[in-house]
Amino acid sequence: MTIKSSIKGFDRRTLIKGSALSVASLAITGGYPSILRATTTPIKIGIFLPYTGTYAKLGSNIKDALILKIEENGGGVSGRKVEFVNIDSEMNVSKSTERINKLILRDKFDFLVGPVHSGIGMNMARIARKSGTILIVPNAGANEITGKFCAPNIFRTSFSSWQTAYPAGKVLLEDGMKRVVLIYWNYAFGKQTADAFRESFEKGGGRIIADIPTPFPKSEFQSFFTKIAALEPDAVFTFYSGGGAIQFMKDFKRAGLNRRIKLYSTFLTEGTAKAAGDASEGIRSTLHYATTLKNSMNERFKSVFLKKTGQEADVFAVQGYDAGELIIQGLKRTGGDTVSQKRLIEAMESSKIQSPRGEITFSKAHNPIQDIYLREVINGENEMIKIAMEKVNDPALGCELI
Ligand code: BEZ
Repeated sequence: MTIKSSIKGFDRRTLIKGSALSVASLAITGGYPSILRATTTPIKIGIFLPYTGTYAKLGSNIKDALILKIEENGGGVSGRKVEFVNIDSEMNVSKSTERINKLILRDKFDFLVGPVHSGIGMNMARIARKSGTILIVPNAGANEITGKFCAPNIFRTSFSSWQTAYPAGKVLLEDGMKRVVLIYWNYAFGKQTADAFRESFEKGGGRIIADIPTPFPKSEFQSFFTKIAALEPDAVFTFYSGGGAIQFMKDFKRAGLNRRIKLYSTFLTEGTAKAAGDASEGIRSTLHYATTLKNSMNERFKSVFLKKTGQEADVFAVQGYDAGELIIQGLKRTGGDTVSQKRLIEAMESSKIQSPRGEITFSKAHNPIQDIYLREVINGENEMIKIAMEKVNDPALGCELI
């Protein structure tokens, strides 16, 4: 298996491992007749994830778990080695279209894996629809990716915005919360999270008393907290993630709000609960994974991931790991053939993944169908309280495949 890194753009290409084989393969891949290319040349996977900025840890956990999965399969599939080209998205939405287009033209990947951020995700989906490259989205939740931009060659191993937040409305109602403030980063994923929460919460009789979008990726919350304190809501429902989430929880506590107002979310405490210390205690969230899930796959995954990376596993690592499994299952069923893309896509569509989160299958729009758990931070761990909603299937609005 070869891993090339081109952190921060295309010009600084550093070979991390296995240089001779990969350079040769790059040079000759295009020259092979397709029958040979189907079975002998390396499988090329382009990874486009953030390794800088507030989502840096999310990106590296996804990448490390994807690579781990391929290593566990012997570094290849069906007799073909896997070669990675790894690029830092730098979370730059405006430059992402140009950069991904260049990447696809230059490298002719069999699979493209990325990104974390929904704005970049929508750009990648638009490009994949045109280029036909198989795109596997291991995080970005924008509904459109498996909604109006859906395509046979686009898969997602993570979630849609709707899928994680809609069950939360029901949870807050069950917890007796009636007057709620929404606060979230003001970009596609934050807005869609707020909308999905509002949909189920208001349907059940709850009232949103304030809707506060805050600039992404800023993490200065004090002035918003003053406003929230004055409103005296029962609860706050929020979307922040990564470094911004840690800051949010600490500031919420520092402002004394955690003594009076219950805090709920989807991603707020994911991979961040320990770093936020006692500021994360008691926060409830709905998500498709909990590190404390009791299944043998999860126990094994957590220990192998920790041993390999020195990092604790989280939902982002799980999504990367499952992206690797989707590639493996697809290729195993085609005997390693990537030339007949129709066959490969059909094989991927029918994959059933035994994931650390539980079993997932794929909807017609290629979004995972999965349980959404209610978790609560207890002694720094996201304890699984119950299944908040079983086998949740995103409505895939606007998708022509359904
Ligand atoms: C998103 O932009 O889709 C996203 C980023 C971080 C966590 C969850 C979703």
